[in-house]
Amino acid sequence: MLELKNVSWTVEDERGAENDIINDISLTLDDKKLYVVTGPNGGGKSTLAKLIMGILRPTSGQILFNGTDITHLSITERAAMQIGYAFQAPPIFKGITVQQLLTIAAGDRKINPMQLLFDVGLCAGEYITREMDSGLSGGELKRIEIASILARDLKLALFDEPEAGIDLWSFQRLADTFGKIHRDLDTTLLIISHQERIMELADEIIVIENGRVRETTDKESFLNSLKLKESCGCGETCERGVSF
Ligand SMILES: Nc1ncnc2c1ncn2[C@@H]1O[C@H](COP(=O)(O)OP(=O)(O)OP(=O)(O)O)[C@@H](O)[C@H]1O
Ligand SMILES: [Mg+2]
Repeated sequence: MLELKNVSWTVEDERGAENDIINDISLTLDDKKLYVVTGPNGGGKSTLAKLIMGILRPTSGQILFNGTDITHLSITERAAMQIGYAFQAPPIFKGITVQQLLTIAAGDRKINPMQLLFDVGLCAGEYITREMDSGLSGGELKRIEIASILARDLKLALFDEPEAGIDLWSFQRLADTFGKIHRDLDTTLLIISHQERIMELADEIIVIENGRVRETTDKESFLNSLKLKESCGCGETCERGVSF
């Protein structure tokens, strides 16, 4: 359903030297599968999601969605093709209520806003009439944004660290919701995550490091290899084990 062909994204640093943030990534995502993208901080995961959503355009390479070349399409055009992205740090939409945001996101689709809020671990009655302003906590805002993505009828849904800032109890509910979507709907899910609970839902784990795909593997092999390795966070193999 989604194909990345030799996609790179390069920025110039202050001295004019080129820095490959995404370096020649080729990937194929299949219909209805759940992919977890993981890897060290700064590896390029969010950048990859932004390239798929059209927030950034590749410096080189091609992105195909169901056979159509979308490399040069805008965010709006990709949204119309039913691609959606929940940001790592969600934006605030001032001047509307939570209910209005969910209704706008749903478009013509019939939704139950209370159920959507419940699905992301929020006590619906307390939030439905709240303004989408800075009075919402980081974890509340994050979950409302995830609910707004769930409100849409998407072919490809990208979630960037849905666990970030979310308490353990709500996270459990959210993970169950991802499992349910994967079971019941036709949406392809790409979830950037560091959480084992999310990885356990994956059909495939994609490890991104230094702007490249380090490996694509099944969750059993990945989780087993994690248990064998000790994380020291140094970024390189060292006496204590390996970094990831
Ligand atoms: N606009 C930009 N200009 C320069 N460097 C950038 C830009 N956007 C991202 N980067 C750099 O690209 C690298 C990858 O960033 P990205 O946000 O994709 O990482 P990530 O894998 O999502 O990390 P994390 O796990 O911390 O969320 C980082 O080193 C970041 O500083
Ligand atoms: Mg990120």
